[in-house]
Amino acid sequence: MPRPERASKGSMPDDAWQTYKRLIGYLRPHRGMFALGMLGAIVFAISMVSFTAFAKVFGDGTFENRDPRTIVWLPLALIGLFLLRGLGDFTQTYCMGYVGRQIVKRLRGQVFERMVHLPVSYFDRNSSNVLLTKLTYNTEQIGQASTDSILITLREALTIIGSIVMLFYFNARLAAIALIMGPLVAWLIGIINKKFRRYSHRIQDSMGDITRVAKETLEAPRVIKVYNAENYQAGQFEGVNEHNRRSHMRLVLTKGLSNPVVQMVTATGSAIVLSIAISDAINERMSMGDLLAFFVALVGIAQPLRALVGVSGPLQQGIAAGQSIFQLIDEAAEPEGGSLVAERVRGDIEYRDVSFTYPVGKGAALHDVSLKVAAGEVIAIVGRSGSGKSTLVNLLPRFYEPDAGTIRIDGHELHEYQLQNLREQIAVVSQDIVLFNDTIRANIAFGRKASDEQIERAAQAALVMDFVRELPAGLDTMVGDRGVLLSGGQRQRISIARALLKNAPILILDEATSALDTESERFIQAALEQLMHNRTTLVIAHRLSTVEKASRILVMEAGRIIESGTHAELIAKQGQYAMLHAMQFNA
Ligand SMILES: Nc1ncnc2c1ncn2[C@@H]1O[C@H](COP(=O)(O)OP(=O)(O)O)[C@@H](O)[C@H]1O
Ligand SMILES: [Mg+2]
Repeated sequence: MPRPERASKGSMPDDAWQTYKRLIGYLRPHRGMFALGMLGAIVFAISMVSFTAFAKVFGDGTFENRDPRTIVWLPLALIGLFLLRGLGDFTQTYCMGYVGRQIVKRLRGQVFERMVHLPVSYFDRNSSNVLLTKLTYNTEQIGQASTDSILITLREALTIIGSIVMLFYFNARLAAIALIMGPLVAWLIGIINKKFRRYSHRIQDSMGDITRVAKETLEAPRVIKVYNAENYQAGQFEGVNEHNRRSHMRLVLTKGLSNPVVQMVTATGSAIVLSIAISDAINERMSMGDLLAFFVALVGIAQPLRALVGVSGPLQQGIAAGQSIFQLIDEAAEPEGGSLVAERVRGDIEYRDVSFTYPVGKGAALHDVSLKVAAGEVIAIVGRSGSGKSTLVNLLPRFYEPDAGTIRIDGHELHEYQLQNLREQIAVVSQDIVLFNDTIRANIAFGRKASDEQIERAAQAALVMDFVRELPAGLDTMVGDRGVLLSGGQRQRISIARALLKNAPILILDEATSALDTESERFIQAALEQLMHNRTTLVIAHRLSTVEKASRILVMEAGRIIESGTHAELIAKQGQYAMLHAMQFNA
């Protein structure tokens, strides 16, 4: 949705100037190429201004002096001028294209780099699809603004300045009168720019909405079909599509109006100047050549002015895009953590009075949770959904920071560890399984350097081999987008294999076997139990049968640990656990 406060921010000239300066910084590594492009632009501008001199020679040579030599060399000079112009044109197009693509690539790289390092909480607050739009659409606009637009602005400004110099050369008095128009035109262009920027922000935001609705729809074809939600989704899309069209039309309207208005103002001025010039020529204060040249120079200002006004659209779009991209690039990355680097932690875990509230939540998700787990222990966490089980374990890899209390591994607080090193110690199999559009093998290895044998052993233990054996391409079978080509249980086994391969001293299983049938679950349970040897394991499970063997069971409710003990102890206690247990087994 459009954010009004952003639109007003976009109209602050200081901010726009800051953004532009920062964008110019991206040119620095390519200044050689950029300068060459500029040279091309200057050659181009010179060739354009030369037409006024051409007109002067043409007028005087033909009408005043009636010099027959002009019959040959004037046409030749014309070809020469166009040759020069063509050369300048090619150089500027090629060089600026080169610089522009470099900038787009660099910005994309920076946006991506930042996206990877943003904290989890950022993704809770912002739609990933809006980020996607920034990566694809906004960067393109910046590429254009920082090269094409600079180029055109410079080239046309040069042409205009050249033409004005010519005006002064041929008739200073007239030129001075013509220049009175300057401030008025500059003021008009200023207003137009502001409007362009405001509408560009809206268009960019609405592009994000279009991507979002389209992507959500593409990702859920089955849900949409079975709920007959095609029309509902189409309605949603129509909404954002229409909003995008409206925003664009505002820009189109401004674009359409800007040139005629600017041209009318200049034409009125030119008309006045022209009438004085004609009277000068009639009274023989000006030669035919001077009048022609003056006229060509005057008309020669109109075309570049048009281009200059025309380029301010893309230029302002680029600035608006730059503002939104820099906002993302400047977003704080995850803290790197401390300097502690452990080869392999033992796996003692301690939570002390930990409280946590999600930034966009409705009250605390964890209240004063304290918990001690000895290295190698297997702890099960049970409780109703929404009771805070996942939140509890998600604090361990520092996806979120607790608001109060401390968490320690091997006696050191989490923030003492270097973040990467901390995460190296933890393997997580969570309820939302994420597979990438790649082979099963690559999904198990997932960036790790692992031998085929290691991958196969992990695949074996997680029962991945059971179904892989039947696939013609085996482990090299592609899993499709997010693993759509596999069943839920198969995906889950792959994610378990991935965690097994990581071989970390701390293992978190957050409903890791929920998508499996009882038989496979039992097999995997056996494999996992093997794996649990000499590592600390936190198991969150719905099916209580899977946690009975845990050395301790914690029962959570509303962000608190309300019971803790072995299966037998908790049954004897006749509390919440006993009740949950009775419900599951008497159902
Ligand atoms: N990313 C999040 N942002 C805001 N609130 C959340 C987020 N994830 C979970 N919650 C809320 O925190 C509470 C605990 O959730 P969770 O730890 O996922 O429960 P469980 O894993 O026991 O089902 C719930 O009320 C849930 O709505
Ligand atoms: Mg959960």
